[in-house]
Amino acid sequence: MSKENVMLSETTCKEIDKWTAKFPADKKQSAVLPALHIVQDENGGWLTNELMDAVADYLEMPKIAVYEVASFYSMYSLKPVGRHKINVCTNISCMLRNSAAIVEHLKKKLNINIGETTEDGKFTLREVECLGACVNAPMMQVDKQYHENLTAEKVDEILDGLD
Ligand code: FES
Repeated sequence: MSKENVMLSETTCKEIDKWTAKFPADKKQSAVLPALHIVQDENGGWLTNELMDAVADYLEMPKIAVYEVASFYSMYSLKPVGRHKINVCTNISCMLRNSAAIVEHLKKKLNINIGETTEDGKFTLREVECLGACVNAPMMQVDKQYHENLTAEKVDEILDGLD
């Protein structure tokens, strides 16, 4: 059952509760990954310190442990992001299949550097480590969707098709 938390909405708490119910009562912190996803999605794609603190309180775990998780995984953002997050992989397999050209194309097309958001707030471009799709390198993730065997033309088609 949800308990009151000033930073987290009732809906968010209920969603988190679905995850905590999967673990023993004294292991609520095991739900930290999905809890951060839920909170991040509700906050326009990024996590504030206050929200991470609220998750820590809700799961009865040390705040620092939540910060460690949120800062370790590239799927969490700790600063405001655009409507669409582009995570382009530049790890070894993608690098060998010329991810550098994809990165350059993205930077030029969006007129931003890695870590930046376009002026219209539409796209945030990030460079990430291996996302486990090496067999179809080079690849990028846009929001929750993987796009593989990328070419500049394919990147254009994907991005031009987004609102
Ligand atoms: S190296 Fe790019 S997905 Fe694995």
